[in-house]
Amino acid sequence: MQKMPEPYRIKMVESIQLIPRAERERKLAEAHYNVFALRAEDVFIDLLTDSGTGAMSDAQWAAIMTGDESYAGSRSYYRLEDACRETFGHQYFAPTHQGRGAENVLFPLLIKPGQVVLGNMHFDTTKAHIELKGGEAVNCIVPEAFDTANCSPFKGNMDIACLERSIEENGVEKVAFVLLTITCNSAGGQPVSMANIKAVREVADRYHLPLFFDAARFAENAYFIKKREPGYENRSIPQIVREMFAYVDGFTMSAKKDGLVNIGGLIGIKDDEVLYSKVRANVVPIEGFPTYGGLAGRDLEALARGLREVVEEPYLESRIGQVAYLGEKMLAAGIPIQQPVGGHAVFVDAGKFLSHLHNNEFPGQALTIELYREAGVRGVEVGSFLLGRDPRTGEQLVSPLELLRLTIPRRTYTFNHMDFVADALIRIYQRRHEVRGVKVVEESQVLRHFTAKLALL
Ligand code: F0G
Repeated sequence: MQKMPEPYRIKMVESIQLIPRAERERKLAEAHYNVFALRAEDVFIDLLTDSGTGAMSDAQWAAIMTGDESYAGSRSYYRLEDACRETFGHQYFAPTHQGRGAENVLFPLLIKPGQVVLGNMHFDTTKAHIELKGGEAVNCIVPEAFDTANCSPFKGNMDIACLERSIEENGVEKVAFVLLTITCNSAGGQPVSMANIKAVREVADRYHLPLFFDAARFAENAYFIKKREPGYENRSIPQIVREMFAYVDGFTMSAKKDGLVNIGGLIGIKDDEVLYSKVRANVVPIEGFPTYGGLAGRDLEALARGLREVVEEPYLESRIGQVAYLGEKMLAAGIPIQQPVGGHAVFVDAGKFLSHLHNNEFPGQALTIELYREAGVRGVEVGSFLLGRDPRTGEQLVSPLELLRLTIPRRTYTFNHMDFVADALIRIYQRRHEVRGVKVVEESQVLRHFTAKLALL
């Protein structure tokens, strides 16, 4: 079938440049082989994250000019509230400066010290905020998530037996709430099925536990339900989104992904007025007055518009199709990746790609470095380097997967960029045995991957 072009045309451009190989080599050494320490201007194609890195539409930029910067009761807030109610079907909303701001406001209201939060697979900042509130983050994802060659359609699903067992083992009073991350970022942008959302709801109801979404990539999840789950092929994306959110009591969301904005977050509460009044009280000292929550009025306008654009099917088809295109090109060349390709990124199985490297030689990081050296492309390691050490023993932990994440910003790059990235990785694959491992030479105690210094082995 003929490949459809991007469903937009370009009205404004931003120059990027590929610096010469010798200079890339020098920049890597200066950054101590940690790509977080590179200057963005030294990166040609930046696939570090899809968070806040997308392009806004002309309609969003136009909406920005209409932002109402009033401290309290801004018109822009009410526009965002309308867009949220229509999109999610919940009653109450609080904007925050980004996703972790939403976690920071909501989680202390739900977690008592010593309690656990059961999820499919918690994102790092989410886990950190659970722990900062004295809780423990427990993952119960289906086991096929860890088999990159398994092509199951919903590898982000919660393992229901594991969920029930965890509730029984901990005792229900020790469980704060259940959290489903849609799509499941840490498992490779893998979706959660509607059937699984319903099954989790049933378990939560049986034990009288609240159920929340981490909704950063909710529209991408809805698109996968439409394409892969029998019975949903003729439902519209907005209908599927409304159904998904009907099963949860509320959500936190980083709007920097499926909000199609560069900054922003949200807390949504379905109908619990008491919880919402606590959120309002908590948001003031942390994020700001409840009608702006750490954002400018113009940011609220851009988000209100972004929520409407993200559920448009031609957009989602192009977005998910672009990520799939990159993944399929690699698969055709024999490169091992997490299958099926996820919503926001291609996760290269660096453990298999660089099978001559041991976990403690950090194959994901070694491949990240090699890709920048080869083509000026910045990806990010998701593996043992990110996982870090056991806080009790100081031992390096071993990640079940050693991955290189190539995260695609929304509406930012074209098919030509995807070809360039795939070709670079294919060249590396052909000489993969030459790629050397790395060791950590300097690190901080928490979230070390952002600032650690490394050396080549
Ligand atoms: N939840 C999920 C599933 C995320 O992917 C992120 C961020 C957050 C919460 C936190 O949101 O950054 O707005 O504070 N993920 C980015 C990433 C950083 O690169 O995957 P935030």
